[in-house]
Amino acid sequence: MTNSIADIRSGIAEARREAIANGIAEPRVVLVPTMGALHDGHLALVDRAAELGDIVVVSIFVNPLQFGPKEDLSSYPRTLESDVARLADRGVTLVFSPSGDDMYPDGDVSVRVRAGDIGTRYEGRTRPGHFDGVLTVVAKLFHILRPDAAVFGEKDGQQLFLVQRMARDLSFDVEVHGVETVRADDGLALSSRNVYLDDAERRSARVLPAALDAAAAAGDRGIDAVVAAAQSVIVGEPRVELDYLAVVDPATFLPVDGDHHGKAVVLIAARVGTTRLIDNRRIFVN
Ligand code: PAF
Repeated sequence: MTNSIADIRSGIAEARREAIANGIAEPRVVLVPTMGALHDGHLALVDRAAELGDIVVVSIFVNPLQFGPKEDLSSYPRTLESDVARLADRGVTLVFSPSGDDMYPDGDVSVRVRAGDIGTRYEGRTRPGHFDGVLTVVAKLFHILRPDAAVFGEKDGQQLFLVQRMARDLSFDVEVHGVETVRADDGLALSSRNVYLDDAERRSARVLPAALDAAAAAGDRGIDAVVAAAQSVIVGEPRVELDYLAVVDPATFLPVDGDHHGKAVVLIAARVGTTRLIDNRRIFVN
């Protein structure tokens, strides 16, 4: 495990030299950015990274910039030792686990990436500044590690969209790949925040994927039916408080019109007890 920016840079340079010595003419570095508390969803990202390149770097950093003042920064699960153990035998070349001081020597940054209009919608409306914080740390990781590709989960669909847009808008020479959401047997999307749920909340949380299933099944009856189908599942579970339900165009992440036909993504966020969960699903609207 490497903590400082200087060490990870020399670690990657060394890994490149080794790969070249082993006959890989142009080794590709692939980054998996995480905040730790790793679960099988993260491991799917790591597996995809190993397919995409030769040198896999996993970053583990709980980024204070993306947490609001009333959010769970101090209680966010930190499980560095078991995370590193989970990455063993997974084809990971280097783990980068910088401290807050390494990443933000002045405690904060005065220059940050702005996520723009889409960054203020859905997650961004409930969590103002969240995506500016995400894009700023991802931009820093891209500069520090200079990966050829980076892998993000589709569960955080708005984040994936915004990182792809940042890479294009700011001409980062990095391919940004999405990996399908990994779900538990009951359909709940894996998330580091699922550990906050007690047994009853965990059962209630199943209405999120169930609402997305209902939305997908209503796709042949138009957008209004999609929204109504998802809402009717959520209102049936009193422990779950809907934050937003939106149907967006995957190409723009703007809400679709009522007469939209074709591909769409249903986004959902809800509070189950004190835990906020998000999920999404691609659907087709006839
Ligand atoms: O998805 C996450 O875990 C974080 O938002 C990320 C991309 C690692 C940036 O801190």
